Amino acid sequence: MSELNKIALKILSNGKGILAADESTATMTKRLDAVKVYSDENNRLLFRQTLFSSSSMSECIGGVILYDETIRQRTSNGKTIPELINSSGSIAGIKVDTGAKILAGSKEEKITEGLDGLRERLNDYYELGARFTKWRGVYLISDKYPSKLSISANAHALARYAALVQEAGMVPIIEPEVLMDGDHSAKDCLMKTSEVINKCYEELELNNVDLKGTILKPNMILPGKNSGEKISSEEIAELTIDCLKNNVPSSVPGIAFLSGGQTEIEATANLNQINIKNNTDFIMTYSYGRALQQSALKFWSKDINNIVGTQTIFDHRARMCSMAAKGKWSKSFEKSQ
Ligand code: 13P
Repeated sequence: MSELNKIALKILSNGKGILAADESTATMTKRLDAVKVYSDENNRLLFRQTLFSSSSMSECIGGVILYDETIRQRTSNGKTIPELINSSGSIAGIKVDTGAKILAGSKEEKITEGLDGLRERLNDYYELGARFTKWRGVYLISDKYPSKLSISANAHALARYAALVQEAGMVPIIEPEVLMDGDHSAKDCLMKTSEVINKCYEELELNNVDLKGTILKPNMILPGKNSGEKISSEEIAELTIDCLKNNVPSSVPGIAFLSGGQTEIEATANLNQINIKNNTDFIMTYSYGRALQQSALKFWSKDINNIVGTQTIFDHRARMCSMAAKGKWSKSFEKSQ
C-alpha cells in the first residue's frame, strides 16, 4: 500500500470524516459577523482551537482542513495547530487554492486559481505539518451552465494541482462543487455533476495522478434550492450513489461529501442513507464545514469563553456525522438544543 493511500484511509476509515475549518479570512469574517463576534486573529483562533481540542476529535475527525492563517498559529500552550490536531490522532490538511475568480470567456462562471508558485507553497505546508490538501472548483448550474469551458478549465486546474500535491508527498482532496443554488431538478443535478466528475477523472488520469492516493469531495445530488422539488433522503442517496458508481474510478479509496448549504440534520440524514444503500467499495463519509460547525458557532458566540459548552455541542454533531458515516444514525439520537 502506498504512503498516500495509507494517509487517505487513515483520514476516512472507521466512521471518521473531515472537519473543513478552512474558511478564508473573508468567509470566516462573514460567519462571525452573522453571530456578532468581532473577527480578529485571536477570535478566529479561539473558536477553531476550541473545536480542535474537543473529545470527539479522536473518534470522529480523521483530518482537519486548515486555512493559511490557522496552520501558522499556536495555542496558548505554545503548541502549533498541526501539533494540537495530531495529538488526537487526526491529520492536518490545508486549503491551497487561492479562490475562484471570474472565468475569462464566460460571463458568470468561475475558475479556481492558485497554480502559480504552488510547488513552493506545498513544500512550506509540508514543513508546517500538513499531509493532505484541498482545492475547490465551483460550478454554476442552470440550463446553460456549467459550460464546457468551465467543466474543462476547472478539471484541468484540479488535475494539475493534484499532481503537484502528490509530488510533494501529500494527499490531494479533489473538490468539484456543483452549487445548490438554482431551480434545477435533482435529475439535472445528477446529469451535470456526472459530466463534471467524469471530466475531472479524465484530466487526473492524463496528469498521471495516483488515484489511490486521492480523496474525492463532491456535492450530493440534490434539487436546486429554489426548485420547489421535494425529495427524500432515500432518493438523494440513490441518485448520489448512481452518480459516483458511474463516474468515479474504483481505485479511488473514498468520498467525503461537502455539506454545501444543507442544514446539519439534512447533511447527516442524507449521508446516513447513502451509507445504508452504499453498494460500492468506496468509503462514503463527510468533509463538512457548516454542517459540523454551525450550532457550535452559534452557542460559542453567546459566550466565547465557554469552551466546554461549545465542545459539547460540537462533539454531539461530530458523533452524529460519524454514526451517519456508518449508516447507524437515527433522528431519535438528536437532542433538542
Ligand atoms: P460546507 O460543508 O460548508 O459546504 O464546506 C465544505 C467545504 O470545504 C467547502 O469548500
